[in-house]
Amino acid sequence: MRIGVLTSGGDVPGLNAAIRAVARRALADGVEVLGFRNGWLGLLEDDFMDLTLRALSGILPQGGTILGASRTNPIAPAGTAERVLATAKAHELDGLVVLGGDGSLRGALEICERGLPLVGIPKTIDNDVPGTEYCIGFDSGMNAVMDALDKLHPTAAAHHRIMVVEVMGNRSGWLAVLGGLAGGADVIVSPEISLSLTDIRDRVLARVERGSKFSIIAVAEGSRIEGIDRETGMGGAPGTSIGHSLAAALGQFMSSTIRVTVLGYVQRGGSPTAFDRITASRMGAKAVELILEGKTGTMVAMVNGAIVPVPLSEVRQSPRPVDPEACDLAQLFS
Ligand code: F6P
Repeated sequence: MRIGVLTSGGDVPGLNAAIRAVARRALADGVEVLGFRNGWLGLLEDDFMDLTLRALSGILPQGGTILGASRTNPIAPAGTAERVLATAKAHELDGLVVLGGDGSLRGALEICERGLPLVGIPKTIDNDVPGTEYCIGFDSGMNAVMDALDKLHPTAAAHHRIMVVEVMGNRSGWLAVLGGLAGGADVIVSPEISLSLTDIRDRVLARVERGSKFSIIAVAEGSRIEGIDRETGMGGAPGTSIGHSLAAALGQFMSSTIRVTVLGYVQRGGSPTAFDRITASRMGAKAVELILEGKTGTMVAMVNGAIVPVPLSEVRQSPRPVDPEACDLAQLFS
């Protein structure tokens, strides 16, 4: 028996832990494992490596992915899916494990429906794949946000500044809300917490009135803020990130200096946390077990803390928003 594994979309800490678990679980049953390089591109170009025990040695704590990643679409342009399926057939793959965010997993679903048995594993720093309460990488990213906020607090306090910290999260604001809570952000803005420019200004001014000489604002990159039009530059500079736009817009009302930190890819880099290593190991092993049991067309999900299969078609739902309870807590503390 032979299976394949690939990592598609943006990388996250914990991918290597998952690859290791997939291969170790498969090898334990005498199943051969091919690691396709650079996401779906590996199946398009027949670029792969044998995942032997030796190849897996030492990768558990490493960030990135030993297989490489890409955002290659497996079903477009025309003829792509056929090439993917032909490579899988040539290698006589009995199954494929796809690590991806919702876009990659939607592509995986299409490939599965065209005849390649596969199992998806959710991973994205944005933590927004529908059908699962956790995506590999999020805990590491959240800790990166918390560390950054811990480091920004003393310098903000020393210089009596307003610090705007832009974090990843396009359609859901998990990193802003939970990372902001963990790091004690004074104002948290995300797609789920739609504060207007006036609301944000008033919260900062209220802090000033209470005697606070600094403020930290955590904002998710995908936030829409009423009063800031990023397209035209009204209230902020045109075409700039939300963090810079917000700082420029707030500057009209504030006498304090405002500085911007865009955390960017440091959130996706580095060694995975213990939680991500363990969750990736659980999900990777489970994915292989599902293939062995013939339960393909599924995604390994976390539901109430348990690692269980759900239909892969769940990925067609909307991105999963931050829990209202966490949003309420964020509002209470900001
Ligand atoms: O994978 C999700 C994500 O990290 C988003 O939060 C971010 O906006 C985007 O990917 C960045 O994409 P890229 O790696 O292609 O620059």
